[in-house]
Amino acid sequence: MSQSFDVLVIGGGPGGYIAAIRAAQLGFKVACAESNAYDDPKGEPRLGGTCLNVGCIPSKALLASSEEFEKASHHLADHGITVGSVKLDSNKMLARKDAIVTKMTSGIQFLFRKNKITLLKGHASFEGKSAEGYQIKIDGKDKEIVTAKNVIIATGSKARHLPNIPVDNVLISDNVGGLKFDSIPKKLGVIGAGVIGLELGSVWRRVGSEVTILEGLPTFLGAVDEGLAKEAHKLFTKQGLDIQMGVKIGEVKADKKGVVVNYTDSAGKAQKLACDRLIVSVGRVPNTDKLGLDKIGLKVDERGFIPVDDHTCATAAPGVYAVGDVVRGPMLAHKAEDEGVLVAEIIAGQKPHIDYNCIPWVIYTDPEIAWVGKTEQQLIGAGIAYKAGQFPFAANGRALGMGRSEGFVKILADAKTDEILGVHIIGPNASDLIAEAAVAMEFKAAAEDIARICHPHPSLSEVMREAALATDSRALNM
Ligand code: NAI
Repeated sequence: MSQSFDVLVIGGGPGGYIAAIRAAQLGFKVACAESNAYDDPKGEPRLGGTCLNVGCIPSKALLASSEEFEKASHHLADHGITVGSVKLDSNKMLARKDAIVTKMTSGIQFLFRKNKITLLKGHASFEGKSAEGYQIKIDGKDKEIVTAKNVIIATGSKARHLPNIPVDNVLISDNVGGLKFDSIPKKLGVIGAGVIGLELGSVWRRVGSEVTILEGLPTFLGAVDEGLAKEAHKLFTKQGLDIQMGVKIGEVKADKKGVVVNYTDSAGKAQKLACDRLIVSVGRVPNTDKLGLDKIGLKVDERGFIPVDDHTCATAAPGVYAVGDVVRGPMLAHKAEDEGVLVAEIIAGQKPHIDYNCIPWVIYTDPEIAWVGKTEQQLIGAGIAYKAGQFPFAANGRALGMGRSEGFVKILADAKTDEILGVHIIGPNASDLIAEAAVAMEFKAAAEDIARICHPHPSLSEVMREAALATDSRALNM
Protein backbone atom coordinates (compact mmCIF):
# COMPACT_ATOMS: atom_id res chain seq x y z
CA MET A 1 0.00 0.00 0.00
CA SER A 2 1.40 3.36 -0.94
CA GLN A 3 1.54 6.09 1.68
CA SER A 4 -1.29 8.59 1.48
CA PHE A 5 -1.50 12.10 2.85
CA ASP A 6 -4.08 14.85 3.27
CA VAL A 7 -1.53 17.43 2.12
CA LEU A 8 1.68 16.90 0.15
CA VAL A 9 3.96 19.90 -0.21
CA ILE A 10 6.49 19.82 -3.05
CA GLY A 11 9.56 21.82 -2.03
CA GLY A 12 11.00 22.54 1.42
CA GLY A 13 11.81 26.26 1.05
CA PRO A 14 10.14 29.06 3.03
CA GLY A 15 6.85 28.67 1.10
CA GLY A 16 6.82 24.88 1.36
CA TYR A 17 8.08 24.14 4.86
CA ILE A 18 5.89 26.83 6.40
CA ALA A 19 2.85 25.48 4.49
CA ALA A 20 3.66 21.99 5.81
CA ILE A 21 3.94 23.19 9.42
CA ARG A 22 0.69 25.21 9.25
CA ALA A 23 -1.17 22.27 7.62
CA ALA A 24 0.12 19.96 10.37
CA GLN A 25 -0.97 22.47 13.05
CA LEU A 26 -4.44 22.34 11.49
CA GLY A 27 -4.58 18.56 12.02
CA PHE A 28 -3.76 17.26 8.54
CA LYS A 29 -1.52 14.30 7.74
CA VAL A 30 1.29 16.07 5.90
CA ALA A 31 4.35 15.18 3.81
CA CYS A 32 6.93 17.45 2.23
CA ALA A 33 9.14 16.36 -0.65
CA GLU A 34 12.63 17.84 -1.06
CA SER A 35 15.43 16.69 -3.36
CA ASN A 36 18.14 19.36 -3.17
CA ALA A 37 21.14 18.49 -1.00
CA TYR A 38 22.97 21.79 -1.68
CA ASP A 39 26.36 21.43 0.06
CA ASP A 40 25.29 18.75 2.53
CA PRO A 41 28.37 16.61 3.23
CA LYS A 42 26.30 13.40 3.31
CA GLY A 43 24.26 14.33 0.23
CA GLU A 44 21.07 14.40 2.33
CA PRO A 45 18.30 16.70 1.03
CA ARG A 46 18.30 19.94 3.00
CA LEU A 47 15.25 21.91 4.06
CA GLY A 48 15.02 25.70 3.80
CA GLY A 49 15.29 26.14 0.03
CA THR A 50 17.26 28.84 -1.76
CA CYS A 51 16.61 31.39 1.01
CA LEU A 52 18.22 29.37 3.76
CA ASN A 53 20.87 27.45 1.83
CA VAL A 54 22.10 29.76 -0.93
CA GLY A 55 20.22 33.05 -0.53
CA CYS A 56 18.89 35.29 2.22
CA ILE A 57 20.47 33.65 5.27
CA PRO A 58 24.05 32.96 4.05
CA SER A 59 24.19 36.34 2.29
CA LYS A 60 23.14 38.12 5.48
CA ALA A 61 25.81 36.20 7.42
CA LEU A 62 28.43 37.44 4.93
CA LEU A 63 26.98 40.96 4.97
CA ALA A 64 27.38 41.04 8.76
CA SER A 65 30.97 39.73 8.61
CA SER A 66 31.97 42.19 5.91
CA GLU A 67 30.34 45.05 7.84
CA GLU A 68 32.35 44.14 10.96
CA PHE A 69 35.53 44.06 8.86
CA GLU A 70 34.80 47.44 7.34
CA LYS A 71 33.93 48.89 10.75
CA ALA A 72 37.16 47.59 12.29
CA SER A 73 39.19 48.79 9.30
CA HIS A 74 37.71 52.26 8.88
CA HIS A 75 35.14 53.36 11.43
CA LEU A 76 36.29 52.39 14.92
CA ALA A 77 38.83 55.25 14.93
CA ASP A 78 35.88 57.71 14.96
CA HIS A 79 34.92 56.23 18.34
CA GLY A 80 38.44 56.73 19.67
CA ILE A 81 39.21 53.02 19.36
CA THR A 82 42.55 52.04 17.92
CA VAL A 83 42.98 48.55 16.54
CA GLY A 84 46.10 46.96 15.13
CA SER A 85 46.24 45.81 11.56
CA VAL A 86 42.90 44.26 10.63
CA LYS A 87 43.06 40.94 8.79
CA LEU A 88 40.31 38.83 7.31
CA ASP A 89 40.35 35.05 7.35
CA SER A 90 37.90 34.46 4.51
CA ASN A 91 37.74 30.70 5.18
CA LYS A 92 36.61 31.39 8.73
CA MET A 93 34.06 33.91 7.47
CA LEU A 94 32.64 31.26 5.09
CA ALA A 95 32.73 28.55 7.78
CA ARG A 96 30.72 30.82 10.11
CA LYS A 97 28.15 31.32 7.36
CA ASP A 98 27.96 27.56 6.70
CA ALA A 99 27.49 26.84 10.41
CA ILE A 100 24.54 29.26 10.56
CA VAL A 101 22.96 27.59 7.52
CA THR A 102 23.43 24.10 9.01
CA LYS A 103 21.93 25.20 12.33
CA MET A 104 18.88 26.65 10.58
CA THR A 105 18.23 23.64 8.29
CA SER A 106 18.55 21.28 11.27
CA GLY A 107 16.05 23.54 13.03
CA ILE A 108 13.48 22.88 10.30
CA GLN A 109 14.09 19.13 10.55
CA PHE A 110 13.33 19.43 14.26
CA LEU A 111 10.13 21.36 13.46
CA PHE A 112 9.12 18.61 11.01
CA ARG A 113 9.59 15.94 13.70
CA LYS A 114 7.72 18.08 16.25
CA ASN A 115 4.79 18.51 13.86
CA LYS A 116 4.89 14.87 12.64
CA ILE A 117 5.53 15.88 9.03
CA THR A 118 6.92 13.12 6.78
CA LEU A 119 9.98 14.22 4.82
CA LEU A 120 10.09 12.50 1.43
CA LYS A 121 13.67 12.65 0.17
CA GLY A 122 13.55 12.96 -3.58
CA HIS A 123 12.21 14.78 -6.61
CA ALA A 124 8.40 14.81 -6.69
CA SER A 125 6.38 14.81 -9.91
CA PHE A 126 2.74 14.21 -10.76
CA GLU A 127 1.86 10.76 -12.14
CA GLY A 128 -1.90 11.20 -12.39
CA LYS A 129 -5.14 11.35 -10.44
CA SER A 130 -7.56 8.75 -9.08
CA ALA A 131 -10.58 8.79 -6.77
CA GLU A 132 -8.17 8.68 -3.77
CA GLY A 133 -6.30 11.81 -4.84
CA TYR A 134 -3.19 12.74 -6.81
CA GLN A 135 -0.44 10.19 -7.38
CA ILE A 136 3.01 11.68 -6.91
CA LYS A 137 6.23 9.93 -7.82
CA ILE A 138 9.16 10.44 -5.42
CA ASP A 139 12.52 9.82 -7.02
CA GLY A 140 15.71 10.09 -4.98
CA LYS A 141 16.88 8.57 -1.67
CA ASP A 142 13.20 7.66 -1.26
CA LYS A 143 11.61 5.96 -4.25
CA GLU A 144 7.88 5.49 -4.11
CA ILE A 145 4.53 6.68 -5.37
CA VAL A 146 2.42 8.44 -2.77
CA THR A 147 -1.15 9.69 -2.86
CA ALA A 148 -2.34 13.08 -1.65
CA LYS A 149 -5.77 14.74 -1.54
CA ASN A 150 -4.22 18.20 -1.72
CA VAL A 151 -0.89 19.23 -3.21
CA ILE A 152 0.96 22.51 -2.65
CA ILE A 153 3.62 23.27 -5.28
CA ALA A 154 6.39 25.35 -3.68
CA THR A 155 9.37 24.53 -5.88
CA GLY A 156 10.88 28.03 -5.93
CA SER A 157 13.16 29.50 -8.56
CA LYS A 158 16.67 29.32 -9.96
CA ALA A 159 19.03 31.98 -11.28
CA ARG A 160 18.43 33.06 -14.86
CA HIS A 161 21.59 32.61 -16.91
CA LEU A 162 22.56 34.47 -20.07
CA PRO A 163 23.17 32.70 -23.37
CA ASN A 164 26.89 32.12 -24.05
CA ILE A 165 27.87 32.92 -20.44
CA PRO A 166 28.28 29.46 -18.87
CA VAL A 167 28.01 29.57 -15.08
CA ASP A 168 30.46 27.14 -13.40
CA ASN A 169 30.04 28.71 -9.93
CA VAL A 170 33.81 29.06 -9.68
CA LEU A 171 34.96 31.70 -12.18
CA ILE A 172 31.49 32.74 -13.29
CA SER A 173 28.88 32.46 -10.55
CA ASP A 174 25.24 33.04 -9.82
CA ASN A 175 23.98 33.46 -6.24
CA VAL A 176 25.33 29.99 -5.36
CA GLY A 177 29.02 30.47 -6.23
CA GLY A 178 28.93 34.18 -5.29
CA LEU A 179 28.48 33.13 -1.64
CA LYS A 180 31.55 30.88 -1.44
CA PHE A 181 34.55 32.31 -3.29
CA ASP A 182 37.62 30.42 -2.03
CA SER A 183 39.59 33.67 -1.86
CA ILE A 184 38.76 37.35 -2.03
CA PRO A 185 38.72 38.36 -5.71
CA LYS A 186 40.94 41.35 -6.42
CA LYS A 187 38.61 42.45 -9.18
CA LEU A 188 35.00 41.36 -9.20
CA GLY A 189 32.63 41.94 -12.10
CA VAL A 190 28.85 41.75 -11.64
CA ILE A 191 26.26 41.66 -14.43
CA GLY A 192 22.93 43.13 -13.21
CA ALA A 193 22.51 45.91 -10.63
CA GLY A 194 19.48 44.30 -8.96
CA VAL A 195 19.11 43.06 -5.40
CA ILE A 196 21.57 40.16 -5.65
CA GLY A 197 24.19 42.12 -7.62
CA LEU A 198 24.11 44.99 -5.14
CA GLU A 199 24.08 42.79 -2.03
CA LEU A 200 26.90 40.48 -3.14
CA GLY A 201 28.81 43.35 -4.77
CA SER A 202 28.69 45.19 -1.41
CA VAL A 203 29.87 42.12 0.55
CA TRP A 204 32.97 41.57 -1.58
CA ARG A 205 33.75 45.29 -1.91
CA ARG A 206 33.82 45.65 1.85
CA VAL A 207 36.37 42.87 2.25
CA GLY A 208 38.64 44.37 -0.38
CA SER A 209 37.44 43.55 -3.91
CA GLU A 210 37.35 46.22 -6.57
CA VAL A 211 33.77 45.83 -7.82
CA THR A 212 32.32 46.88 -11.19
CA ILE A 213 28.60 46.36 -11.78
CA LEU A 214 27.33 46.35 -15.36
CA GLU A 215 23.59 47.06 -15.70
CA GLY A 216 21.62 46.84 -18.93
CA LEU A 217 18.91 49.36 -18.08
CA PRO A 218 19.57 53.12 -18.08
CA THR A 219 17.74 53.62 -14.76
CA PHE A 220 19.21 52.52 -11.43
CA LEU A 221 16.83 50.39 -9.31
CA GLY A 222 13.82 51.16 -11.46
CA ALA A 223 11.30 49.51 -9.09
CA VAL A 224 12.46 51.60 -6.13
CA ASP A 225 11.09 55.08 -5.35
CA GLU A 226 13.12 57.50 -7.45
CA GLY A 227 14.25 59.60 -4.48
CA LEU A 228 15.66 56.54 -2.72
CA ALA A 229 17.24 55.13 -5.88
CA LYS A 230 19.09 58.43 -6.42
CA GLU A 231 20.31 58.52 -2.82
CA ALA A 232 21.36 54.85 -3.02
CA HIS A 233 23.31 55.42 -6.23
CA LYS A 234 25.10 58.38 -4.63
CA LEU A 235 25.98 56.46 -1.45
CA PHE A 236 27.06 53.22 -3.19
CA THR A 237 29.25 55.12 -5.66
CA LYS A 238 30.84 57.02 -2.75
CA GLN A 239 31.57 53.68 -1.05
CA GLY A 240 33.51 52.61 -4.13
CA LEU A 241 31.10 50.50 -6.20
CA ASP A 242 31.63 51.28 -9.89
CA ILE A 243 28.09 51.06 -11.28
CA GLN A 244 27.79 51.41 -15.05
CA MET A 245 24.26 51.83 -16.39
CA GLY A 246 22.86 51.26 -19.90
CA VAL A 247 25.52 48.79 -21.02
CA LYS A 248 25.14 46.01 -23.57
CA ILE A 249 26.98 42.82 -22.68
CA GLY A 250 28.94 41.23 -25.52
CA GLU A 251 31.28 38.26 -25.53
CA VAL A 252 32.46 36.90 -22.17
CA LYS A 253 35.68 34.86 -22.11
CA ALA A 254 36.91 32.87 -19.14
CA ASP A 255 40.25 31.13 -18.73
CA LYS A 256 42.64 30.25 -15.90
CA LYS A 257 43.64 33.90 -15.50
CA GLY A 258 40.10 35.16 -15.02
CA VAL A 259 37.19 36.55 -16.95
CA VAL A 260 37.01 39.25 -19.62
CA VAL A 261 33.64 40.85 -20.30
CA ASN A 262 33.33 42.73 -23.58
CA TYR A 263 30.55 45.29 -23.48
CA THR A 264 29.29 48.49 -25.05
CA ASP A 265 28.90 51.40 -22.64
CA SER A 266 25.95 53.82 -22.57
CA ALA A 267 27.77 56.10 -25.06
CA GLY A 268 28.07 53.21 -27.53
CA LYS A 269 31.80 52.76 -26.98
CA ALA A 270 33.32 49.25 -26.92
CA GLN A 271 34.75 48.41 -23.47
CA LYS A 272 36.47 45.47 -21.75
CA LEU A 273 36.25 44.52 -18.10
CA ALA A 274 38.94 42.14 -16.89
CA CYS A 275 38.13 40.54 -13.54
CA ASP A 276 39.11 37.55 -11.40
CA ARG A 277 35.53 36.49 -10.82
CA LEU A 278 32.18 37.35 -12.38
CA ILE A 279 28.72 37.20 -10.80
CA VAL A 280 25.70 36.98 -13.10
CA SER A 281 22.60 38.28 -11.27
CA VAL A 282 20.01 39.07 -13.92
CA GLY A 283 16.83 37.76 -12.31
CA ARG A 284 15.38 34.34 -11.52
CA VAL A 285 13.12 31.83 -13.29
CA PRO A 286 10.51 29.56 -11.66
CA ASN A 287 11.29 25.84 -11.15
CA THR A 288 8.26 24.42 -12.93
CA ASP A 289 9.79 21.96 -15.38
CA LYS A 290 9.94 18.21 -14.65
CA LEU A 291 6.91 18.39 -12.34
CA GLY A 292 4.65 16.35 -14.63
CA LEU A 293 2.12 19.19 -14.63
CA ASP A 294 0.78 17.97 -18.00
CA LYS A 295 -0.27 14.69 -16.34
CA ILE A 296 -2.88 16.58 -14.30
CA GLY A 297 -3.84 19.01 -17.07
CA LEU A 298 -1.87 22.03 -15.82
CA LYS A 299 0.08 24.41 -18.06
CA VAL A 300 2.61 27.12 -17.20
CA ASP A 301 2.46 30.60 -18.75
CA GLU A 302 4.96 31.90 -21.33
CA ARG A 303 7.48 32.77 -18.57
CA GLY A 304 7.17 29.40 -16.81
CA PHE A 305 4.94 30.53 -13.91
CA ILE A 306 1.94 28.47 -12.77
CA PRO A 307 -1.29 30.50 -13.18
CA VAL A 308 -3.20 30.71 -9.88
CA ASP A 309 -6.25 32.44 -8.50
CA ASP A 310 -5.30 35.93 -7.28
CA HIS A 311 -6.74 35.38 -3.81
CA THR A 312 -6.45 31.64 -3.06
CA CYS A 313 -3.32 30.44 -4.94
CA ALA A 314 -5.53 27.64 -6.37
CA THR A 315 -4.44 26.25 -9.73
CA ALA A 316 -6.85 25.01 -12.40
CA ALA A 317 -6.56 21.45 -10.94
CA PRO A 318 -8.90 21.04 -7.94
CA GLY A 319 -6.94 20.57 -4.70
CA VAL A 320 -3.63 21.66 -6.26
CA TYR A 321 -2.20 25.00 -5.11
CA ALA A 322 1.03 26.85 -5.93
CA VAL A 323 2.89 29.39 -3.78
CA GLY A 324 6.04 31.52 -3.71
CA ASP A 325 8.43 32.01 -6.62
CA VAL A 326 6.48 29.72 -9.00
CA VAL A 327 3.48 32.11 -9.08
CA ARG A 328 2.81 35.81 -9.74
CA GLY A 329 4.05 38.45 -7.33
CA PRO A 330 7.44 39.28 -5.87
CA MET A 331 10.06 36.55 -5.42
CA LEU A 332 10.40 37.14 -1.70
CA ALA A 333 10.72 34.54 1.05
CA HIS A 334 8.19 36.27 3.33
CA LYS A 335 5.62 36.47 0.52
CA ALA A 336 6.07 32.71 -0.06
CA GLU A 337 5.67 32.01 3.67
CA ASP A 338 2.46 34.01 3.86
CA GLU A 339 1.06 32.20 0.82
CA GLY A 340 2.00 28.84 2.40
CA VAL A 341 0.02 29.71 5.55
CA LEU A 342 -2.87 31.02 3.44
CA VAL A 343 -3.17 27.83 1.38
CA ALA A 344 -3.00 25.52 4.43
CA GLU A 345 -5.79 27.55 6.04
CA ILE A 346 -7.89 27.53 2.84
CA ILE A 347 -7.58 23.72 2.68
CA ALA A 348 -8.86 23.71 6.29
CA GLY A 349 -11.91 25.73 5.22
CA GLN A 350 -10.75 29.07 6.66
CA LYS A 351 -10.92 32.39 4.81
CA PRO A 352 -7.46 33.99 5.06
CA HIS A 353 -6.39 36.96 2.95
CA ILE A 354 -3.12 38.54 1.82
CA ASP A 355 -2.92 42.23 0.91
CA TYR A 356 -0.07 42.16 -1.62
CA ASN A 357 0.20 45.96 -1.40
CA CYS A 358 1.35 45.60 2.22
CA ILE A 359 4.24 43.21 1.55
CA PRO A 360 7.48 44.96 2.49
CA TRP A 361 10.57 44.85 0.26
CA VAL A 362 14.14 45.03 1.50
CA ILE A 363 17.49 45.33 -0.21
CA TYR A 364 20.22 44.42 2.25
CA THR A 365 22.88 46.82 1.15
CA ASP A 366 24.53 49.24 3.55
CA PRO A 367 22.55 51.35 4.20
CA GLU A 368 19.56 49.10 3.78
CA ILE A 369 16.70 50.05 1.48
CA ALA A 370 13.15 49.06 2.49
CA TRP A 371 9.71 50.02 1.34
CA VAL A 372 6.05 49.09 1.43
CA GLY A 373 3.14 50.32 -0.68
CA LYS A 374 3.32 52.71 -3.61
CA THR A 375 6.24 54.79 -4.88
CA GLU A 376 5.84 58.46 -5.85
CA GLN A 377 6.09 57.45 -9.52
CA GLN A 378 3.26 54.91 -9.13
CA LEU A 379 1.02 57.49 -7.42
CA ILE A 380 1.74 60.09 -10.11
CA GLY A 381 1.09 57.45 -12.81
CA ALA A 382 -2.24 56.52 -11.21
CA GLY A 383 -3.25 60.18 -10.84
CA ILE A 384 -3.59 59.92 -7.05
CA ALA A 385 -3.12 63.21 -5.17
CA TYR A 386 -0.65 62.66 -2.33
CA LYS A 387 1.51 64.55 0.13
CA ALA A 388 5.06 63.54 0.99
CA GLY A 389 6.92 63.90 4.27
CA GLN A 390 10.64 63.21 4.47
CA PHE A 391 13.01 63.22 7.45
CA PRO A 392 16.77 62.53 7.47
CA PHE A 393 18.60 60.19 9.85
CA ALA A 394 21.19 62.99 10.11
CA ALA A 395 18.76 64.89 12.40
CA ASN A 396 18.27 61.89 14.74
CA GLY A 397 20.39 61.61 17.87
CA ARG A 398 20.43 57.83 17.95
CA ALA A 399 21.58 57.59 14.33
CA LEU A 400 24.36 60.11 15.03
CA GLY A 401 25.42 58.16 18.14
CA MET A 402 25.62 55.01 16.02
CA GLY A 403 27.65 56.85 13.39
CA ARG A 404 24.88 56.04 10.91
CA SER A 405 23.51 59.38 9.77
CA GLU A 406 23.02 58.59 6.08
CA GLY A 407 19.61 58.26 4.41
CA PHE A 408 16.02 59.22 5.24
CA VAL A 409 12.42 58.05 5.71
CA LYS A 410 9.78 59.22 3.25
CA ILE A 411 6.06 58.77 3.89
CA LEU A 412 3.48 59.25 1.15
CA ALA A 413 -0.10 59.89 2.30
CA ASP A 414 -3.37 60.51 0.48
CA ALA A 415 -3.81 64.28 0.03
CA LYS A 416 -7.46 64.15 1.15
CA THR A 417 -7.84 61.25 3.59
CA ASP A 418 -4.28 61.21 4.99
CA GLU A 419 -4.19 57.36 4.57
CA ILE A 420 -0.61 56.11 4.27
CA LEU A 421 -0.04 54.95 0.68
CA GLY A 422 3.67 54.18 0.77
CA VAL A 423 6.67 54.28 3.11
CA HIS A 424 10.25 54.34 1.81
CA ILE A 425 13.37 54.05 3.92
CA ILE A 426 17.04 54.21 3.07
CA GLY A 427 19.15 54.10 6.19
CA PRO A 428 20.30 52.04 9.17
CA ASN A 429 18.07 49.11 10.19
CA ALA A 430 15.55 49.91 7.44
CA SER A 431 14.58 46.21 7.31
CA ASP A 432 13.33 46.38 10.91
CA LEU A 433 11.90 49.91 10.77
CA ILE A 434 9.70 49.04 7.76
CA ALA A 435 7.66 46.61 9.90
CA GLU A 436 5.95 49.57 11.63
CA ALA A 437 4.91 50.89 8.22
CA ALA A 438 3.58 47.48 7.11
CA VAL A 439 1.47 47.23 10.30
CA ALA A 440 0.21 50.80 9.82
CA MET A 441 -0.79 50.12 6.21
CA GLU A 442 -2.50 46.80 7.08
CA PHE A 443 -4.60 48.78 9.60
CA LYS A 444 -5.23 51.54 7.00
CA ALA A 445 -3.56 54.06 9.30
CA ALA A 446 -3.30 57.75 8.48
CA ALA A 447 0.03 59.58 8.61
CA GLU A 448 -1.40 61.41 11.62
CA ASP A 449 -1.77 58.08 13.48
CA ILE A 450 1.99 57.49 13.30
CA ALA A 451 2.61 61.16 14.10
CA ARG A 452 0.49 60.95 17.29
CA ILE A 453 1.85 57.60 18.57
CA CYS A 454 4.57 57.86 21.22
CA HIS A 455 7.89 56.55 19.86
CA PRO A 456 10.84 55.75 22.16
CA HIS A 457 13.61 58.33 22.48
CA PRO A 458 16.34 58.14 21.44
CA SER A 459 15.62 55.61 18.71
CA LEU A 460 15.75 55.32 14.94
CA SER A 461 11.96 54.90 14.95
CA GLU A 462 11.60 58.61 15.72
CA VAL A 463 12.63 59.27 12.11
CA MET A 464 9.45 57.46 11.02
CA ARG A 465 7.35 59.66 13.30
CA GLU A 466 9.06 62.84 12.12
CA ALA A 467 8.46 61.83 8.47
CA ALA A 468 4.76 61.34 9.33
CA LEU A 469 4.71 64.82 10.92
CA ALA A 470 6.48 66.19 7.85
CA THR A 471 3.57 65.12 5.60
CA ASP A 472 1.73 67.96 7.40
CA SER A 473 4.79 70.24 7.39
CA ARG A 474 5.16 69.96 11.17
CA ALA A 475 8.30 67.92 11.76
CA LEU A 476 9.56 68.97 15.18
CA ASN A 477 13.30 68.55 14.87
CA MET A 478 13.83 70.17 11.47
P1 NAI B 1 16.73 41.58 -10.13
O1 NAI B 1 15.54 41.44 -10.98
O2 NAI B 1 16.63 42.23 -8.81
O3 NAI B 1 17.86 42.39 -10.92
C1 NAI B 1 18.39 41.95 -12.14
C2 NAI B 1 19.05 43.13 -12.84
O4 NAI B 1 19.75 42.64 -13.95
C3 NAI B 1 18.03 44.15 -13.35
O5 NAI B 1 18.42 45.44 -12.95
C4 NAI B 1 18.09 43.95 -14.86
O6 NAI B 1 17.82 45.14 -15.58
C5 NAI B 1 19.53 43.51 -15.05
N1 NAI B 1 19.76 42.75 -16.27
C6 NAI B 1 18.96 41.80 -16.81
N2 NAI B 1 19.51 41.31 -17.94
C7 NAI B 1 20.70 41.96 -18.12
C8 NAI B 1 21.72 41.88 -19.09
N3 NAI B 1 21.66 41.04 -20.12
N4 NAI B 1 22.79 42.72 -18.98
C9 NAI B 1 22.89 43.59 -17.93
N5 NAI B 1 21.93 43.69 -16.98
C10 NAI B 1 20.85 42.89 -17.07
O7 NAI B 1 17.32 40.10 -10.04
P2 NAI B 1 18.39 39.44 -9.07
O8 NAI B 1 19.25 40.47 -8.42
O9 NAI B 1 19.03 38.38 -9.87
O10 NAI B 1 17.47 38.81 -7.95
C11 NAI B 1 16.49 37.84 -8.32
C12 NAI B 1 15.32 37.80 -7.39
O11 NAI B 1 15.69 37.32 -6.13
C13 NAI B 1 14.71 39.16 -7.20
O12 NAI B 1 13.54 39.23 -7.98
C14 NAI B 1 14.37 39.22 -5.75
O13 NAI B 1 12.99 39.20 -5.56
C15 NAI B 1 14.97 37.97 -5.11
N6 NAI B 1 15.89 38.36 -4.06
C16 NAI B 1 15.45 39.15 -3.04
C17 NAI B 1 16.31 39.59 -2.08
C18 NAI B 1 15.80 40.49 -1.02
O14 NAI B 1 14.62 40.56 -0.81
N7 NAI B 1 16.64 41.23 -0.33
C19 NAI B 1 17.71 39.23 -2.07
C20 NAI B 1 18.08 38.43 -3.20
C21 NAI B 1 17.19 38.03 -4.13
